[in-house]
Amino acid sequence: MADDMVFMGDHEASHDASPVERVSGIGVDEFVRRFRIPRRPVILTDALQDWPALGRFTPDYFSREFADLPIRCAGKDYRLGEALTLQRNATADQPGPYPCAITDCRQFMRDISPRFGYSLPNRHTHPLVPALLFNSISHIDIFFGGAGNNFPFPHYDFLRMHGWVAQVYGDKEFTLFYPGQEHLLYVDPQRPWRSTMESTNEPDPGRYPLFRQARGRKVIVHAGEALFIPCGTWHAVRSLNASISVLFDQLESSNWREFRQEVVALRRREGQFMKARLIDAYLWVLGPAMDVLEYFGANRRKDWGAR
Ligand SMILES: [Fe+2]
Repeated sequence: MADDMVFMGDHEASHDASPVERVSGIGVDEFVRRFRIPRRPVILTDALQDWPALGRFTPDYFSREFADLPIRCAGKDYRLGEALTLQRNATADQPGPYPCAITDCRQFMRDISPRFGYSLPNRHTHPLVPALLFNSISHIDIFFGGAGNNFPFPHYDFLRMHGWVAQVYGDKEFTLFYPGQEHLLYVDPQRPWRSTMESTNEPDPGRYPLFRQARGRKVIVHAGEALFIPCGTWHAVRSLNASISVLFDQLESSNWREFRQEVVALRRREGQFMKARLIDAYLWVLGPAMDVLEYFGANRRKDWGAR
C-alpha cells in the first residue's frame, strides 16, 4: 500500500485532496503559516533529530530496563515487561493489551527533549492555567503498540488540543478525516469528541450508512517522524507493527477559543452551570493576557516545563 492515500467514500473531493505533506528543514514561522493556522496536518521528518530516545527507545530496551514499571492497560494492571511480552506475541486477530501507555513520563523527559519549536508555545504548564481544567488527562504519554492494536473509533483529541505524535519506533497508520463531517461520523452526544462507531474498519453499513460518504486521508508515520494533528481533526489510529510513540498536546493562541468552549461545555454537561460561567469568564480574560505574555517569550520551554 502507498504510504499516503486519499479516500473519499462515494463522493468526489470538494476540497484539498492531496496527501498529507512530509516536510523537513522549515522554520517555525513557515510551519505556523502553512500548517498551524490553516489547520493542515503535516509530517515533520526531522523534528525528532535531537531526541536521545530515537534509537534508544525500543521494546527490548523497555523490557530490559523498566520491566517492573506498573502500567494500566484498558483498566487492567500489568508490569511493563509483561505487557510488552503480550504485545510481542500478539497477532492481528489476537492483539495484546491496549491502550498501553506510560502516563507519568518524568523519568523519560531527558530522552524526549528538546520539545521542538513547532510545538511551542504551549500553555499547559503555565501557572495561570489551572491543572483541574484538564480533567486529570496527562499531556504526554509514551504509547506502546503491537500488531492488531488500534484506536479505531473516530475521535478528536480531548478539549480540542492540537495533537502531536512523535514516532520513535515502528510505524503507525492514521486516518485523518476532512473537517466539517460530524454529520457523517455518528458523534456520541454524551462524549462529543468521539464517535459511537467502534471502528472505521468495515463498519456495519446498516447501523452507520452515512459513514461511507466520509472523506479523509490515510498516512503512515515512521520512526523518526512527527505528525501534527490540528485541533479538532477527527482521526483513527492503527499500529502496523511493534511501535512506540510519544503523544503530546499543544494549547496555544489559535486553539484557545475552542479549548475554552470545550471546557465550559464539559462543565455544563455535568450540570455545573455556575462553575461553567466562572471558568468561561476567567479563560476569556486569560486568553489575550497569554497572547501578550507569549509575545514576550512565555510558554516556550523546550524542557517541557513542570506540573
Ligand atoms: Fe487521538
